[in-house]
Amino acid sequence: MSKHEDAAKVAEVEAEKIGFGIDIGGSGIKGAPVHLGTGELLTKRFRRPTPAESSPEAVGAVLAEVVEHFELPGMAHIGVTFPGIVKDGVAHSAANVDKRWVDTDVAEVARRWTGHTAYVANDADAAGYAEIAYGAAKGKKGTVLVLTLGTGIGSAMIRDGVLIPNFELGHLEIDGYDAESRAASSIKEEEGLSYPEWAERLQRYFSHVEFLFSPDLFVVGGGVSKDHEQFLPLLDLKTPIVPAKLRNKAGIVGAAALAADNA
Ligand code: BGC
Repeated sequence: MSKHEDAAKVAEVEAEKIGFGIDIGGSGIKGAPVHLGTGELLTKRFRRPTPAESSPEAVGAVLAEVVEHFELPGMAHIGVTFPGIVKDGVAHSAANVDKRWVDTDVAEVARRWTGHTAYVANDADAAGYAEIAYGAAKGKKGTVLVLTLGTGIGSAMIRDGVLIPNFELGHLEIDGYDAESRAASSIKEEEGLSYPEWAERLQRYFSHVEFLFSPDLFVVGGGVSKDHEQFLPLLDLKTPIVPAKLRNKAGIVGAAALAADNA
């Protein structure tokens, strides 16, 4: 869709119901305006590949390109996800992106390149926030764990509808391995694992997480969650496990909602 068609679609919605989110992932940087009432994307996502050298400068330039595509009003706050620990806008880890991000003020990088005030959250936390507001975790009491399977494994811990940020359950050490180095969906691709082969690794991972946290619900997100029928039924757990309702859009939607709620 052209820039002008996208702008026309967005113009039909009341301004205060519009948010804007950008998801910085290991393979792609995706942004879209979001309807904050429904959690739906107002236009198709605009996606650019994550630069091979994913330094703050290179990623900042892509953020600028994404925002520029949508012609946002100058005052609009944007939400941005980052695939590492984020506290007060600052990155404290960078497992799957350039290490120069560590100790970088991601919110400041986003503001400098896009010209917009940015709220930055961990990618899985943003996905969890979206699932609470609009998706599979909506109205759920107790402990809900959202696990995103992608380049790495992201996790969001939710207790009685409240997100507790920066749970890094992708890096649990299991059988001597960093868990995401065995069970992320990128590893399935890299090693050419079939769904049943990958499901064995997921079984080991999810049963360990289940033992540690006794959750009431697992929500599985990330791009591969669209193929959930191929692997979720193979898992044998005591805890109900469901696909994320917002699938791969959860990061964008959650970032937009977090930015609006923290403006
Ligand atoms: C990072 C997490 C992130 C996850 C998914 C992990 O390697 O440590 O912070 O949420 O990947 O991107």
